[in-house]
Amino acid sequence: MDDEWAAAAATWNTDPCVITYSKMAISRVEPLLPADKVMDLGCGTGHLARHLAPRARQVVAVDPSPAMLRPLREEGIPNVLVVEGVLDDALATVHADSVDLVVASSVCAFVPNYPALLRRVAKILRAGGRFLQLDWRNEEATLDNHNGGFSDAVVREAMATTPLGLESLDDVRFDMGEGTNAHVIAVLARRRQP
Ligand SMILES: C[S@@+](CC[C@H](N)C(=O)[O-])C[C@H]1O[C@@H](n2cnc3c(N)ncnc32)[C@H](O)[C@@H]1O
Repeated sequence: MDDEWAAAAATWNTDPCVITYSKMAISRVEPLLPADKVMDLGCGTGHLARHLAPRARQVVAVDPSPAMLRPLREEGIPNVLVVEGVLDDALATVHADSVDLVVASSVCAFVPNYPALLRRVAKILRAGGRFLQLDWRNEEATLDNHNGGFSDAVVREAMATTPLGLESLDDVRFDMGEGTNAHVIAVLARRRQP
């Protein structure tokens, strides 16, 4: 299979926009730590997984791109399990009610069925476990065509089909540098008690 992210991987860790974005993502994850078992969905080169590792018992970092995964793999952090695969496959292998925190930074827009992804996330989370999603904001997004981003309405509509309870839905704006104003949707949800 072609690695669609191979070109991006070559400059990902040194791209100033990615570095600025990653700082924002880390600031959103920080209040949710420590956690026991964590999954980093679409982990890329591992900005978040690397930050999560010292404050978690185990981090499972999933991504289908061998090129994106290479830096994290090569680092060999003892409590980070690097899994090469798409989310649909990787999540299907995780035990129900076994994960404390799931983070998905800039990946949900690449997954074909967002409500189905949320249902899988809800299934693997322990009751009370949390889900953090960060994505570009797109007010034109619909459930069938999120077109690279998400709106509050799409997140609410999809989440209503799951046992996840929305805790916050934030509007995050920051300067990415190079003339780019970033506008991110930060979704925090908690798996309800059964
Ligand atoms: C924009 S990058 C974000 C990487 C990382 N989360 C970050 O914040 O730096 C998107 C990542 O999603 C991954 N990806 C794309 N489709 C995916 C899928 N179906 N399942 C899991 N990961 C996917 C890509 O390989 C890529 O590494």
